[in-house]
Amino acid sequence: MKKTKLKQITRVLILLVIIPLFAFCNNSKQQKRSSNQFTITDSFEPDIDISLTATPAEIQLLEGEKTAVYTYTSELIKGDSSSLQQIPNSYLGPIIRVKPNQKIRIRYNNELPDESIIHWHGLHVPEEMDGHPRYVINNGEQFVYEFVVNNRPGTYWFHPHPHGITGYQVYKGLAGMFIIEDNQSNLPSDKYEVPLVIQDRRFDSSNQLVYLENNMMDMMVGFLGNEILINGKSNSSMEVDKATYRFRVLNGSNSRIYKLAWSDGVNLTVIGNDGGLLSKPTEKPYIILGPGERIDVWRDLSNINSGEQIALNSLAFNSGTSMGMMGSGGGMGGGMMRGRGNMQRDNNLSDSYIDNGDALTLYNFIVSDKQGEVVSLPTEFEPIEQFDLSESVNQDSPRQFNFHFERMQWLINGKTFEMNEVADWEKVKLNTTEVWEFINGGSGGGMMGNMMSMPHPVHIHGLQFQIIERDVSEVPTAVWNSMKDGFIDEGWQDTFLLLSGMRVKVALRFEDFTGIFLYHCHNLEHEDMGMMRNYEVIE
Ligand code: C2O
Ligand code: CU
Repeated sequence: MKKTKLKQITRVLILLVIIPLFAFCNNSKQQKRSSNQFTITDSFEPDIDISLTATPAEIQLLEGEKTAVYTYTSELIKGDSSSLQQIPNSYLGPIIRVKPNQKIRIRYNNELPDESIIHWHGLHVPEEMDGHPRYVINNGEQFVYEFVVNNRPGTYWFHPHPHGITGYQVYKGLAGMFIIEDNQSNLPSDKYEVPLVIQDRRFDSSNQLVYLENNMMDMMVGFLGNEILINGKSNSSMEVDKATYRFRVLNGSNSRIYKLAWSDGVNLTVIGNDGGLLSKPTEKPYIILGPGERIDVWRDLSNINSGEQIALNSLAFNSGTSMGMMGSGGGMGGGMMRGRGNMQRDNNLSDSYIDNGDALTLYNFIVSDKQGEVVSLPTEFEPIEQFDLSESVNQDSPRQFNFHFERMQWLINGKTFEMNEVADWEKVKLNTTEVWEFINGGSGGGMMGNMMSMPHPVHIHGLQFQIIERDVSEVPTAVWNSMKDGFIDEGWQDTFLLLSGMRVKVALRFEDFTGIFLYHCHNLEHEDMGMMRNYEVIE
């Protein structure tokens, strides 16, 4: 009798302890879930609902053996069928096409052997939707993105952002375009609107992707492939009609910079960049496109003879990469850098080294005899409102961000990336406009810092900014002269190239969302090595 009572009491006690414990566990799990938006919000009614899965795959990229890649497979759960455009026989993810103000849900499933998360490059979304590495999910887990499209129409993109392995995962194939459609009916559309994702890769003799090979120098300068892939495929050409085209160009390479130009010497007609259309088309002899950047190019091919080929090339330029004692183009150093191709096992072309700044043919457009749609180039687009700098809180004393090399690391103001760290000088106020100045190659690094110098493509998450000044007085003359006509400092941007010695001032406004966002070098090897920091928007 007494015994059973004791048993009962024990049971009750156990229940009393265990139930709350369970509830607590459950609760903390749920809290984690809701704060990480792992699950679907019932009250969110998406216009477009997509399932996107990152998974290893094998694709027929080259002749012979298949290539092991990572890819985003996708499925449209809800929405117009044009919202998801697959690219056959490519490792690239689908092109996601949305319209301004649409509500988007993306159910991201990670089937990779590594952790991962997706960043929507260029989009203005809440911090937990932005793909910060602290939100990574593991194999078998799901992360549900739900956000409203509130950017201008334009060419954006998405790619993984797990810390330390972003370069590897993007290289393996994880990337896709995210197009916000405009209602400009007077621009080439449908088959005359062609995405061009430019990437460089390196293959071994059994058609497998080669990455870094643990080569310290490759890490330092960033990965450079010796074969160009367009839209995740190895074809080097496409057939075009005699028509007017709109090319949405993304530099999706890990670290290669392109100096884009038409082979027939015709100027590039640029109609847009990172954040959408410019206020009017602008003509450039060539365009410098750093990793992560986009340009929208208009081209009339209607007057080209059938059978003729027009190539999109990358012209030679001086990237200004100097590795101090290890290779500044002279003496022992130059030998080490430049001679790398020769140091390879044999003279096989697939082992050749193509430096950043070496000339390349990217893609050939073969003009057919088919007469296609011809539309005239609009003389102007919507005006772009310039920031009023007198309203900025620090016009006369911009925040400064020095991208430099020190202690064998690429750093920002002497700091490397820490997952949750935000320094005092990285805190900004919601609803303010600021001026930020980015400096490349500055002090701080002492002798070594000055000797190791490279261009850095600077990317800021969460917003689009305006470039207000590019000070080139400290850029080596040979470097600047080889690139000076290729920059567009108009319109809205989220990524810009900061050459050695360059100082760039940008104006940015922090709106709508508080929280922690990243800014970093979009040379993905530099990013993975820690040339990345958080900034925080506070109330
Ligand atoms: Cu396209 Cu933080 O990156
Ligand atoms: Cu960099």
